[in-house]
Amino acid sequence: MTAAPADEPRGEDAPLRLAAHASPGLSGTATIPGDKSVSHRALIFGTLAVGETRITGLLEGEDVLDTARAMRAFGAAVTRDGPGAWRVQGVGTGALAEPADVIDCGNSGTGVRLIMGMMATCPISATFTGDGSLRHRPMGRVLDPLALFGARAVGRRGGLLPLTLVGAEAPVPVRYATPMASAQVKSAVLLAGLNAPGETVVIEREATRDHTERMLMAAGAEVSVSETPEGHAIALTGRPELRPLTVAVPRDPSSAAFPVAAALVSEGAEVLVPGICLNPTRAGFYTTLAEMGAEIAHENPREEGGEPVADLRVRFSALAGVEVPPERAPSMIDEYPMLACLAASAEGPTVMRGIAELRVKESDRIAATVAGLRANGVAVDEHEDGMTVHGRGPGSVPGGGLVATHLDHRIAMAFLVMGLGARAPVTVDDARPIATSFPDFRTLMAGLGARIQPAG
Ligand code: S3P
Repeated sequence: MTAAPADEPRGEDAPLRLAAHASPGLSGTATIPGDKSVSHRALIFGTLAVGETRITGLLEGEDVLDTARAMRAFGAAVTRDGPGAWRVQGVGTGALAEPADVIDCGNSGTGVRLIMGMMATCPISATFTGDGSLRHRPMGRVLDPLALFGARAVGRRGGLLPLTLVGAEAPVPVRYATPMASAQVKSAVLLAGLNAPGETVVIEREATRDHTERMLMAAGAEVSVSETPEGHAIALTGRPELRPLTVAVPRDPSSAAFPVAAALVSEGAEVLVPGICLNPTRAGFYTTLAEMGAEIAHENPREEGGEPVADLRVRFSALAGVEVPPERAPSMIDEYPMLACLAASAEGPTVMRGIAELRVKESDRIAATVAGLRANGVAVDEHEDGMTVHGRGPGSVPGGGLVATHLDHRIAMAFLVMGLGARAPVTVDDARPIATSFPDFRTLMAGLGARIQPAG
């Protein structure tokens, strides 16, 4: 196998064109892999703790494997004992090694932004790069607050990768209000704050996913969360000694969205999706589906690995279009492409606003979703900060179109799922990026009875 050009995913050489065909009666159990956000953080916290962190249920997608490789470059001993079972021998905050080579974070914005935060207050330098998608994504959003700690970055114009980050020699703590709702930015600041003396405070207007705060607390850091007139504030006291954790990674609600949506559009379907993380900062998609009339029972609610989880039993449902409240966006930010594809077979319009952040994800997800829907006969209005999908009603999505996925795993999965309930097959131009977050997607879907096949 030859190396893929830098603007293509690694792994298979040629684009993998797949078509999803109508698949009524999906049934069975969908066992979803570990949560991507928690998996990245488990490896990073393992590196920052003194002693051995044990992880089970780690997502073994390319994004997380890139972070595991990066943690080795910063001095941690990272060992895989078996499927999803990993150990990290950490070096402690402030004692990171200087990587001997460029850190390649592949497709992962979370990986690169959190790792830059982790090293920004250590007296070392590191050079970061990524694939053709990541090299187009804005890094200024983390470099700006990291500069306040005393770190310096030299990169391409516009704050693009590749770039070299020179960690602060004498870091100072920071008080920072995030200009956009972003858990990556919040987490980068908190991770940098770990090695700054005194109190670092991050304020966000809307609460975003809180896995970093949960892990900081579990590892023994002093963290307080409060509601202030400026917003949701997280205060961290720097230079704690972090305890190694035992992390049972919960199953990813963002990956679960795909088989859940597949069951909703497949006539006669009934699918069980066990053990899904329903942390309120992640569960907005499921709240929205309930408002659309989706038949999803939350069975056996419990706590696992410090996160609320439940088993979801999903049945084919006639959905109604809704207006998604913009303030819900942070809790379902990765689920909008899937929601838009589902909205195509709902009765009436679905309005999604306040999601301009989608334009700087793995692709411009508003543009990619709008183009994919139109190519498949679905009417949609594009707004600067969102889209309105004109639902055609259950079973009436025409399909038959080719979708450009732009190196974006979620665009690929969302449209393949839409094809399972469409009148004609829906084809995606390249399914390889799915391996970044959901390597077993095709096998899992085939196990439910989904017909997703290579297309000519
Ligand atoms: C993530 C935060 C979100 C999300 C991404 C994972 C995280 O990004 O889209 O998939 O793990 O912190 P933003 O922080 O840019 O919104």
